[in-house]
Amino acid sequence: MTQNKRQILLTSALPYANGAIHIGHMLEYVQTDIWARFQRSRGHECYFAWADDAHGTPVMLWARSEGKSPEELIDRMNEEHRQDFRDFGVSFDNYSSTHSDANRELVERIYTALDQAGHIERRTIEQLYDEKEGMFLPDRFIRGTCPKCGTEDQYGDSCESCGSTYAPTDLVNPKSAVSGSVPVMKQSEHFFFRLSDFEKPLRKWMASGSLQPEVANKLKEWFEDGLRDWDITRDAPYFGFCVPGTTDKYFYVWVDAPIGYMASFKELCDREGLDFDAWWGPDSTAEVHHFIGKDIVYFHTLFWPAMLMGSGFRTPTAVHAHGFLTVDGAKMSKSRGTFIRARTYLDHLAPDYLRYYFAAKLGSGMADIDLNLDDFVQRVNSDVVGKVVNIASRCAGFIQKRFDNRLADSLPEPDLYQSFVDAGDAIATDFEQRNYQSAIRRIMALADEANRYIDEHKPWQLAKQEGTEAAVHGICTQGINLFRVLITWLAPVMPFTAQRAGDFLGVDVTRWDAIAEPLCGCEVNTFQALLTRIDPERVEAMVEDSRQTLAESAPDAGADESAGQSDIEPVAETIGIDTFSRVDLRIAAIVEAREVPGADKLLQLTLDIGDGTRTVFAGIKSAYRPEDLNGRLTVMVANLQPRKMRFGVSEGMVLAAGPGGDDLFLLAPDSGARPGMRVT
Ligand code: MSP
Ligand code: ZN
Repeated sequence: MTQNKRQILLTSALPYANGAIHIGHMLEYVQTDIWARFQRSRGHECYFAWADDAHGTPVMLWARSEGKSPEELIDRMNEEHRQDFRDFGVSFDNYSSTHSDANRELVERIYTALDQAGHIERRTIEQLYDEKEGMFLPDRFIRGTCPKCGTEDQYGDSCESCGSTYAPTDLVNPKSAVSGSVPVMKQSEHFFFRLSDFEKPLRKWMASGSLQPEVANKLKEWFEDGLRDWDITRDAPYFGFCVPGTTDKYFYVWVDAPIGYMASFKELCDREGLDFDAWWGPDSTAEVHHFIGKDIVYFHTLFWPAMLMGSGFRTPTAVHAHGFLTVDGAKMSKSRGTFIRARTYLDHLAPDYLRYYFAAKLGSGMADIDLNLDDFVQRVNSDVVGKVVNIASRCAGFIQKRFDNRLADSLPEPDLYQSFVDAGDAIATDFEQRNYQSAIRRIMALADEANRYIDEHKPWQLAKQEGTEAAVHGICTQGINLFRVLITWLAPVMPFTAQRAGDFLGVDVTRWDAIAEPLCGCEVNTFQALLTRIDPERVEAMVEDSRQTLAESAPDAGADESAGQSDIEPVAETIGIDTFSRVDLRIAAIVEAREVPGADKLLQLTLDIGDGTRTVFAGIKSAYRPEDLNGRLTVMVANLQPRKMRFGVSEGMVLAAGPGGDDLFLLAPDSGARPGMRVT
C-alpha cells in the first residue's frame, strides 16, 4: 500500500525545437508519463515538467534559411509539440522552452557560481572556420574524405563507412556543409568547464544514486579514460544565451538544455506557489528523476550532476535511460514510411494503442524496443480489446437490460476479488521499477482469469433459465468489479480508455487504493464502447502517409552539433555541387502507366531511360489518370536505392511539384529531350 507521501519531479529529455516529434520521442514521453500517472495514482505529489531545446547552430541556420527570426520559428514549433503531447495524453504540468527568462536567469546563476569557484577556464583554441558564412563550423557541419578509408563525404568527427573517429582537421578535402566552401583554421577563445574537479563527488553520486547497472558500468569506463574538460562556449553567430561579461560568446546548447529542466519547474513553482528551493536546494528531500535515451547518458551523468554540484544545488535522484525505438526491426526510415511523426500517427490511430504497446515492451533496462507493426495490431487487439474491454462489455449488457444499470449488493466471490486486489502490490513494484512489461504481463494474466470466471459461469446461458436473476446479477457484478481493478492499474498506461471506463463505472479509476472496496449496490452508467479494434488498414495508411510526408518543408527531429551519439542528420541548408552531382537525374519516357490494385495514391510507371526500363511506383494518382501519362516524358532519379513496397519494388522516383492532391505537376523537359539524357 501507499508509503509516505513522496515529492517527485520527473523530466524527459528536451526535444530539439527545429523538428517534429516522432514516435521514437514518444517512447520516452510515454514512458515518463506512465510513471508520472502511476506516482499520482499512488497518492504522491508528482510533477512532470520539461521543455523544447531551442538553442544551437541548427536552429540558427534554419531561421536564416527561412528568413525568419529563430524566436518566431521556435514558438510555432513549441505550440505543435505541446499539441502532440496533449493529444498523446502526456500529463505534463509545465512545458516550456530553454529560450525563456527563467532559464536565462538560472543559466547565469549557475555559470557565475561555477566561475567564481574556479571551475571555468579560458583557453584559445583553433577551429575550422567558414569565411563565406562568417562562422566557426561544428564538427557535424564539416564534410570531407575519411582519412582512414578514403570514403568521400563523411562528417567531421567520424566515418560512417569504417567507423573511425578523428578530428575535423584530419579530413581530406574538408568542406563546409553550410556554404560548400573550403574552411580555414582560425583561433578563438573558448571557456571550459573543469569536469575533472568533480571526479570524486561524481563517483560518490554514482555509488549512492540509483543508476541502472549498464549506466554505472559506462560511467566507470569514462572515469578510467579520465574526465576531460568540457568546451562550454560557442562564438557568434549562434542562437543561445550570451555568456555574462562577453558580447560574442554564447553558452553551448548542452549547457542550458539540462538547466531547462529546472527552469521549467521554476515556472511551475511561480505559477502554483510551490517552493522551488525545497526541490532543488542542497538539502532537498524531494526526488528528481530524469528519463532519457541511451544516446545522451554522458551529458546527464557527468556534466549535469557536476554543474549542479559546483553551483550549490542538489543532484538528481536517478537518471533512467531507455533504448531506441526501431520499427519492424530496423532504424526508423523515411523511405520505408516507418519514420512516423507523432501527428501522422494521431491522424490514423488512437494514442492508447501505442501507449499500451510501448508499456508491454518497456523494461527497466536500455534494450532497444521494436515496434513490429503486425505484432502491434495483433497484441493490442487481443490484449486490450479481446481481454480487458471484453470483460466489461460482456457484463454491462446484462446489468443494463435486466438490472437497470444497478450492481448487486454483494460479490458472489469476494475471495476472487481480494486475490485481484492483493496482486496490486507486485504490479506497483513493477511500475515503480519501470518494469512495465512485467506489470502488463501480470495484469493480462488476471484479465485471462476474469474471462475464465465469466466463461465458466456463462451468464448468457443462465439468463435463459427461470429463477436465475440473482445469480446472473452476481456474476456480472463480479465481472465488472474485476474489470474495474484491471482498468485502475492500466489507467497510467491508457488514460483515454480509463477515462471512458471511469465514466461508465461512475468512479475515479486514477486512484490506486480506491479498489480496496468493491463496487456493490450502486448504479453504473450506460456502457459505451471503450476502445475498438485496430483496423490493420489504418496502420498501412499511416505508413503510406509517412512515406508521403517525407518531402515536407519542416525538418524532422532536429539535430545537435555533437556527433557520434545521435543518429539524426543535421539540417544542412545548402549542399555542394559535388553532392548534387551524385544524383543521377535522367529524362525518362513513360512507356506504361497503370493503376495499382489496393493502392489509393500510387500509379505504377514503366519508364524508358535509354539503357532499359525501370518500374517506379509514384504517388501521383490523385492528379493523373494513367491513360493521360502514356508516352509522356518526365524526369527521374535513376540511382535511388530500390525500395521494396507492398506492391513491388520501386526502382527510382519521378519528380513532381506542388502540395499534393490534384495540385501536383509532373516535371517535363523541353521539346527535343530524349529518354536517357542526363539532367545536369
Ligand atoms: N535536445 C537533446 C536533449 C536535451 S536534454 C537536456 C536531444 N533531443 S532529441 O530530440 O534528439 O531527443 C530527445 C529524446 O528523445 C532523447 O532522450 C532521445 O534519446 C530520445 N529519442 C530520439 N529518438 C529516439 C528513438 N528513435 N527511440 C527512442 N528514443 C529516441 O537529444
Ligand atoms: Zn572511413
